[in-house]
Amino acid sequence: MAEQTIKLPRHVTFIMDGNGRWAKQRGKERVFGHFEGVESVRAVMKVAVKKKIEYVSFFAFSEENWGRPQAEVTTLMELMCKAMVGELPTFMENNVRFMVLGNRERWTDEVKKSVEEISSKTAANTGLTMIIFLSYSGKWDILQAAQKMAHDLINQPGGTQDPKSFDQYLVTDGIPDPDLLIRTSGEVRISNYMLWQTAYTELVFTDVLWPDFREKEFVDALEEFAGRDRRFGKIK
Ligand code: IPE
Ligand code: IPE
Ligand code: MG
Repeated sequence: MAEQTIKLPRHVTFIMDGNGRWAKQRGKERVFGHFEGVESVRAVMKVAVKKKIEYVSFFAFSEENWGRPQAEVTTLMELMCKAMVGELPTFMENNVRFMVLGNRERWTDEVKKSVEEISSKTAANTGLTMIIFLSYSGKWDILQAAQKMAHDLINQPGGTQDPKSFDQYLVTDGIPDPDLLIRTSGEVRISNYMLWQTAYTELVFTDVLWPDFREKEFVDALEEFAGRDRRFGKIK
């Protein structure tokens, strides 16, 4: 009963980290950790649906991650395509709207095709919105937004230039800023994730490696969030 009354975030975002180390600890190839990490995404999604959280998002691949060995990059892209297409029946059953955000210019044709298929088929779903950030970085997002805003201001001088009007140029337009960011694997950094959008996000860092992050770990983080006092610069 008590769990229904705790203050829940509207948008929870994850920096899923530690897949490679998880695999290494088991004497396996790094990609094995990525495969197991998909199960953690599923587990988080189930909890979010059950608790009626509105938005969950996952940092799956950064602009910097393109610098990894080609074999790992290729396997990751294939895995993401396979996972999103394979999950379609679950999305439909659970009324989940699925979106992928990032630098589309760098997506492979297969990624573009899978994203288009799953996004269009789930677009009318009204439950949880689940977002994957793929080929995304915070600085890239701010830069592309600034370019679009500058373009608009040239065509329409005198337009508003406040933080709220800037939001609409970011790839996250229409999505509320994250209330809670959870990063796994003991790393305590943002790694060029949603730099603008996390201005007032509550941060939770856990040593658990992403493939081990399941229902219990998520519920614990939600409890920690519920105990936080968000002041937004004001005083009580
Ligand atoms: C996170 O796990 C997944 C991606 C960044 C794609 P890592 O692959 O970074 O795993 P570690 O940090 O090397 O253990
Ligand atoms: C952050 O993880 C990016 C994603 C989870 C997609 P990394 O493993 O790439 O981060 P760093 O390089 O250790 O900061
Ligand atoms: Mg890592």
